[in-house]
Formats: sequence, C-alpha cells, structure tokens
Amino acid sequence: MKILILGGSGFVGGHLSRRLSRAGHRVTVATRHAPTARRLKIVPGLAVRAFDPYDVEALSEALAGHDVLINLVGILNERGFSGAGFRRAHVELVEGAIEACRRAGVARFVHMSALNAGQGESHYLITRGEGEQRVRESGLDWTMVRPSTIFGPDDSFLNRFAGLLAISPVLPLARPQARFAPVWIGDVVEAFARALERDDSVGEVYELCGREIWRLDELVRWVARQRGMKRLVVGLPDALGWLQGKVFDLVPGKPFSSDNFKSLKIDSVCSEPGFERLGIEPWGMADKAVEWLADGGRQSRYQRFRQRARRS
Ligand SMILES: NC(=O)c1ccc[n+]([C@@H]2O[C@H](COP(=O)([O-])OP(=O)(O)OC[C@H]3O[C@@H](n4cnc5c(N)ncnc54)[C@H](OP(=O)(O)O)[C@@H]3O)[C@@H](O)[C@H]2O)c1
Repeated sequence: MKILILGGSGFVGGHLSRRLSRAGHRVTVATRHAPTARRLKIVPGLAVRAFDPYDVEALSEALAGHDVLINLVGILNERGFSGAGFRRAHVELVEGAIEACRRAGVARFVHMSALNAGQGESHYLITRGEGEQRVRESGLDWTMVRPSTIFGPDDSFLNRFAGLLAISPVLPLARPQARFAPVWIGDVVEAFARALERDDSVGEVYELCGREIWRLDELVRWVARQRGMKRLVVGLPDALGWLQGKVFDLVPGKPFSSDNFKSLKIDSVCSEPGFERLGIEPWGMADKAVEWLADGGRQSRYQRFRQRARRS
C-alpha cells in the first residue's frame, strides 16, 4: 500500500513509518518543516514531503496516488488559552484532511485520537471528540485508534518524569491519583499495521491500553526507583494541582497547564479490549521500560541527542 502519514515526523510517526516500511508499504511522511523528519530519510522506501497540512490543495496534491491517509497530528498544549489552537490542530486539520482525501480519491482514513475523546472539560479532550465526529461523518473508510499514554525509549512521558526527578529531590505532582494504562509504542504501531490489513477494521474504534494500570504517583516513584534515585514525590490536593497548572500556563512551552490538569480529571484507562480484537497481547510498563530506564538513561540521552541534532 502507499500510505501518507500526517504528523509522521514525531514520536509515534517515527516508529510507525519504520514498522510499515518493514512490512513492504511505501510511506510518505508529511511535515511542516523538512528538517524535523530528516532522521527518517534513511528508512527504505520512505519519502518526506514538506508543506502546510492546513492547505487542502497542497495536501490533496501530496495524496495523489496514495491508498491511505494516517493522521497523527495532535498537540497537548496550545499557545493561548481559548481552545482555538486545539481546535485548529484537532478539528480544522481533520476537516481539511477529509476534503483532501475526497479530492485525491483516497478512501481509507486512519485517525489517531485519544482515550476519553469528547469527555470532560479540557479543550484537549473536547476538540479530540469534535475531530472524531468529523471522521465518523466523513463517508470515508475510517478507523480510529485511542491509546492511553504511550511509552518508549524516545517518549516524552517517562523521560520527562525521569528528567524532572534528576534535577529535583522533591516532585510536587498534580492529580496523583489519576490512573493510566501506559502502552508500549511497539504495540501501538502493531495495532495500526494490523488494522490496515483488515477490512473489518473499517468503522471501528480501537482503545489501546498496556496490561497494567498505574496511579500517577506510583508510576513516578517507580521511575525514580528504576533510576536508583531517592526522591520525595508529593501528591498535591486538587486546589494546589490546579494552581500548579495556572502557574505553568505562564512558562514558555507550557511543561504543564491548567488544560492538562482538566484532562487528568478523567482516568486514561480503556473501556474495551482493542488489542484483543486485533490479536495483540500488549506489554506492560514494568516489562518493557526497565530495558532503558535501568541503564541510567543512556538510551534516552542518545535519543535526546538525536532529537537535538535533527532540530539543528
Ligand atoms: N504520545 C502519547 O503518549 C500519545 C497518547 C495518546 C494519543 N497520542 C496522539 O498520537 C499522535 C502522535 O503523538 P506523538 O507523541 O507522536 O506526538 P509528536 O511527537 O508531538 O508528533 C506530532 C506531530 O504532529 C505535527 N504537529 C504538531 N503540532 C502541529 C500543529 N499545530 N499543526 C500541524 N501539525 C502539528 C508535528 O509534525 P511536524 O512538526 O513535522 O509538522 C509532530 O511531529 C498525536 O495526535 C497525539 O495526540 C499520543
């Protein structure tokens, strides 16, 4: 198959494009800035195309001759506070992508969403739900994937906590009781690959969870233990957690935000066995993440070095 991946230059896109290329598919990674996807150019059969993904004409031209569009574009934080940034990335981009598929005659659309899309009060989850609705109404042969938090050697989840723990003896944590089912990146890309091979995945939504459920504070303490660090992880009551989000709203790049705080009010756990339906037995975090956390982070330091190199 010839597959174009929007948002394919990121964490999931890197793993997914390699997995699909190994299976013999021809992959085009679409990016806003060619240097972001430079590291993928060595993947056999992979092409990188740089253009504005909100330009429907440019996207439909890039899609010509492809069989599938996979949309991986997503943001965890926006520049302002109104929700307009989330709406642009999670709804407007989807509307444009659907229109571009129609113009280019591409019927198959695989959409990356997130658990709890459409629930709660965060702009992130509300706009995720609106994006899903556009896909359901598109008339295309769609499939949707909703993972819990994804981990891997080059993730920005475990590595972020490992980084924070490394610089601070005390870590104040908002929503410590929030529950996650961290899911291995290898299992996520396997789910995409299998869904693409199956006709019966059309019109289906697959929720993807790892095989263990963790409380956020237990997870962060576990990361500290794997790194051999003695740290105090302090769960914040909601009033202080909310305040922490408000303060970090003002920090450039928003390492945490009031919108993240609102998303954390709903547990990121599955309500249906998506992996089982695809014939995949998922790994848990304790099985997999020890491979690189316990080595003192040498792999993740290497990954960060690579990321810096591709930005320069
Ligand atoms: N990682 C997780 O734990 C997790 C969990 C659940 C769902 N997801 C979803 O899975 C998808 C991929 O996640 P990821 O971790 O690979 O994210 P990522 O590393 O941040 O990659 C996302 C890609 O989207 C593009 N992008 C970012 N902001 C954009 C914007 N405002 N407009 C247009 N394109 C934009 C970027 O490509 P260019 O800069 O090259 O254009 C980027 O490479 C996202 O939709 C995310 O929400 C991730």
